[in-house]
Amino acid sequence: MAGSAFDRTPDQNAIVEGWTPPEIDVSRAHSARMYDYYLGGKTNFPADRAGAEQALEAFPHLKVGAQANRAFLLRLVRRLAGMGVDQFLDIGTGIPIEGRNTHDAAQAIIPASRVVYVDNDPIVLAHARALLTSNPAGATAYIDADVRDPESILGHPKLTSTLDLDRPLAMLLIAVLPFVPDKPAETLAQLTDRLPSGSYLGLSHLTADNDPAGVGRLVDTYRQTGINTQALTRAEVADLVPDGWEIVEPGVQILSQWLPDADAPAPDPVHVPAYGLLARKL
Ligand SMILES: C[S@@+](CC[C@H](N)C(=O)[O-])C[C@H]1O[C@@H](n2cnc3c(N)ncnc32)[C@H](O)[C@@H]1O
Repeated sequence: MAGSAFDRTPDQNAIVEGWTPPEIDVSRAHSARMYDYYLGGKTNFPADRAGAEQALEAFPHLKVGAQANRAFLLRLVRRLAGMGVDQFLDIGTGIPIEGRNTHDAAQAIIPASRVVYVDNDPIVLAHARALLTSNPAGATAYIDADVRDPESILGHPKLTSTLDLDRPLAMLLIAVLPFVPDKPAETLAQLTDRLPSGSYLGLSHLTADNDPAGVGRLVDTYRQTGINTQALTRAEVADLVPDGWEIVEPGVQILSQWLPDADAPAPDPVHVPAYGLLARKL
C-alpha cells in the first residue's frame, strides 16, 4: 500500500491518512488519480504522481488544461440547469471535488435535480459517498461500470430508479472518451440511442490542433505509462456526435472559449488542449 494519500473509508466516511481500499492497484498510474494530481487533489499515489510529472514534462500546461476542463464541466451543468434540465448522467465522473461536482452545480440551480454518476475506477467508487450528498429534494446515485458497456449503465437498476428515461436528460462525457480510443463514436451512438428527443450530450475531448508537438508528447507519455489515449482534431470531435443530434451554440470550441465566464481570466487556448461541445437530440 502506498501511504501518503488522504482517503475516506466508505464505511466511516472519515478522512484517514494512508488508507487505501485493498482492491486498488496503486503500483500503476491511473488516469483518474493523475487528473486528481493536476487539480491539486490528494487522492493520488507515488506511481500516479510519477506518471503525472512525466506528463507535465511533456506538456507543461496540463494543470491549466485540467482546471479548464473542470471549469467547463461546471459551466455546462449550470447552463443546462438554467435551461431547465434536471436529470444528469455523468459518465467518467472522476474523483469527487468538494463542492465542484455535477450535483453541486445542478442542485444550486434546481434543488430537485437527479444525477447518476458512472466510473470504472475503484478509487472513484471508494469515494462515491462524497457524490451521494444530494440535496434532499433531489437524488444522486453511483454506478461502477465501464462506458464501453452501455447496457450495464442504461439497464442498471440504480439508473432506472434515479432517472426517468422517458424525459430528456443530459449525458456528460467529460474528458473520458480520450481514454476509450477504440471506436468512441460507436460507443457514443449506443449510449445515446435510447435517450428521448430533447436530451443533451456534453463532451470534452483532447486535441493536438493547437500544439501538435506538445500534445503528441503527452499522448506518448500516457501510452508509455500504460494508459491508452488519443487526441482528435476539431472535425473528428464534431464527428463523434451521433446522427440525429445537432451541435448547439457555441459549437465545438477550445474549452476555455466555450461560453467563458465574463469575470474569469481565460487561459491561452494553446494551454488548453481540449475541445468541448453541447449537442441536442432532435
Ligand atoms: C480525466 S478524468 C475526468 C473526470 C471528470 N469527468 C472531469 O472532467 O472532471 C477521466 C475519468 O474517466 C474514467 N474512465 C476512464 N476510462 C473509463 C471507462 N472505460 N469507463 C468508465 N470510466 C472511465 C477515469 O476513471 C476517470 O475518472
